Amino acid sequence: MLDERFFDEGLNRVGSDCIKWDACRREHGENTLPMWVADMDFKSPPEVTRALMERAQHPTYGYTEVTAADHEALCAFWKRRHGLEVAHEDIVMLPCVVTGMKIALQALTEPGDAVIYQPPVYGPFSMSVESTGRTAMEAPLKRDEKGYYTMDLEAVEQCCRNGAKLMLLCSPHNPVGRCWTKEELTALVDVLRKYEVILVSDEIHADFVFAPSVFTPALALGYDRTVSLAAASKTFNLAGLQQSVCLCPNAELREKLNATVNATGVTTGNIFALTATRAAYQYGDEWLDGLIAYLAGNIREMEACTAELLPGAVLTPMEATYLAWLDLRAWGLSTEEIMKRCEKTGVAFTGGTFFSKELGDGFVRVNLGCPRRNIREAMKRLQAALN
Ligand SMILES: Cc1ncc(COP(=O)(O)O)c(C=O)c1O
Repeated sequence: MLDERFFDEGLNRVGSDCIKWDACRREHGENTLPMWVADMDFKSPPEVTRALMERAQHPTYGYTEVTAADHEALCAFWKRRHGLEVAHEDIVMLPCVVTGMKIALQALTEPGDAVIYQPPVYGPFSMSVESTGRTAMEAPLKRDEKGYYTMDLEAVEQCCRNGAKLMLLCSPHNPVGRCWTKEELTALVDVLRKYEVILVSDEIHADFVFAPSVFTPALALGYDRTVSLAAASKTFNLAGLQQSVCLCPNAELREKLNATVNATGVTTGNIFALTATRAAYQYGDEWLDGLIAYLAGNIREMEACTAELLPGAVLTPMEATYLAWLDLRAWGLSTEEIMKRCEKTGVAFTGGTFFSKELGDGFVRVNLGCPRRNIREAMKRLQAALN
């Protein structure tokens, strides 16, 4: 396992055209510390870089096939890390997870059909429903005074009764950091099964789960109208390469997904995306175990900084993801005002309203995928912005 020094070192990403640092500094100022978009400031596994360099040295880059080795690497990883058996034929290759969400909506529902999701949740859930001409049906999460979130199954069932056709689940959940338990997921699926509502589970954060929580894949729940969306991109910081998958054991649904992929002209087969993804799945375990241990330390640092510097804030307990959900409503400011003030003190977060205009106002999401020292610095800048 890689030790903390590897992650403490981080790396200078300025000037690499990365959205997190370069676009952010262009918009908010040169000294801004970016704690926003879910992208990490660590070197990807050295095995990935090596594989990319080797491939780049073969000096031609023609049409490339997706091979059994690509599928095999993914299947072995999911079996090893999450105990899930994936058959090669269940895999639909896609460029990114949000593409998968939009493909699933177009393939498995009709224009105008109602789609359930649970705000506050990653903004592209509602945006995808809107952009594909489907109708949003919200079943907001419940929140207790400690900031811990749970599903409102009665609200989900009401949506089902009102005719919803599909549910978009975020598992683990961004931004509220829940790793849904097997019991919670089973109860959810029992409701969906009753009304034959299709489950599309976005599992891009599956690998960021902290003990004692354990990730349960939606495909392990035994509901045959389930599709899951997954990628190595978040886990190994490869999002710029654009490679993801949709996993669908149900042949009838998969046929529809493939037909929509075909009709919309989405293609995969980027040489470098395939090379990097395969290497990450095959050889990334040691790096990933080191990363998870390091991120667990970052979460403890975030808890300590919040208690010390922002005693009025409520930090949602984190079971999963490297994204902290911070309730700053004690200051009585809108997210917009908080973000404006943060621009002055040199720190950028993702505003809570990206996840829900109503339920996220007065919140920010803090990206902890960075060297530990940046967390204290960011929280000091947030404290200065608020006080
Ligand atoms: C829950 C969730 N889904 C999807 C994505 C984006 O994935 P992609 O870049 O593959 O579309 C993110 C990125 O932060 C995310 O948090």
